[in-house]
Amino acid sequence: MKRIIIITGTPGTGKTTIAEKLCRKLNNSELLRSNSLIKEFGLYKYRTKDGELVADMERLRNELERKARKSAADTVIIEGHLLCDIRIKGATAIVIREHLRKLQKRMIARHYKESKINNNIVAEAVDYCGINAEKNYEKVYEIIGGDNAVENIIGILEGRQKPLKQIELLDELNHFIKTPKQKKIKKRYASVALHQSY
Ligand SMILES: Nc1ncnc2c1ncn2[C@@H]1O[C@H](COP(=O)(O)OP(=O)(O)O)[C@@H](O)[C@H]1O
Ligand SMILES: [Mg+2]
Repeated sequence: MKRIIIITGTPGTGKTTIAEKLCRKLNNSELLRSNSLIKEFGLYKYRTKDGELVADMERLRNELERKARKSAADTVIIEGHLLCDIRIKGATAIVIREHLRKLQKRMIARHYKESKINNNIVAEAVDYCGINAEKNYEKVYEIIGGDNAVENIIGILEGRQKPLKQIELLDELNHFIKTPKQKKIKKRYASVALHQSY
């Protein structure tokens, strides 16, 4: 039976790198990159004034399900940060987590705006992708990014390795907040945490 594996997580956690390696390691597998599909098939609603595409989630979901169904591969891997907010039928979700400092460095290297970096740091700290993936997928596993990630994913898929259900990075947010500017992040975190408690 065909299996579908979702690789999701905050931007910069290493999804694309890990999904590509995983695809090379698994026999007869195919990789679908949701960001590429959004651009290629125009699966977006509009462009923001910063030029970013706002995805049409329903069309993206339909296109991914159609492509996964049509695929001749035994394993279809789908990667992208939006996938935690979408339900792909029968898929297993792997959430890639990463330490906040590492994530910050990677986003700076990508020249992301400061506000975008701060939002994504908070999202990672509160495990936005993990919490939402839990709502949309029956099987959800969290993996810390880095060189061992692919082996760990294969170990979990083959039932050799006991998965970690959740990875705790919230504590790192406190060490992160040092400058007055970064205190703004703390305010944001407070509102996110309150919202999530309902
Ligand atoms: N295991 C790793 N070791 C070192 N750098 C990595 C590793 N995995 C990813 N990176 C780097 O981190 C950055 C983000 O990785 P990428 O796979 O593009 O993340 P995402 O797809 O989640 O946004 C890239 O510059 C990539 O080279
Ligand atoms: Mg990517």
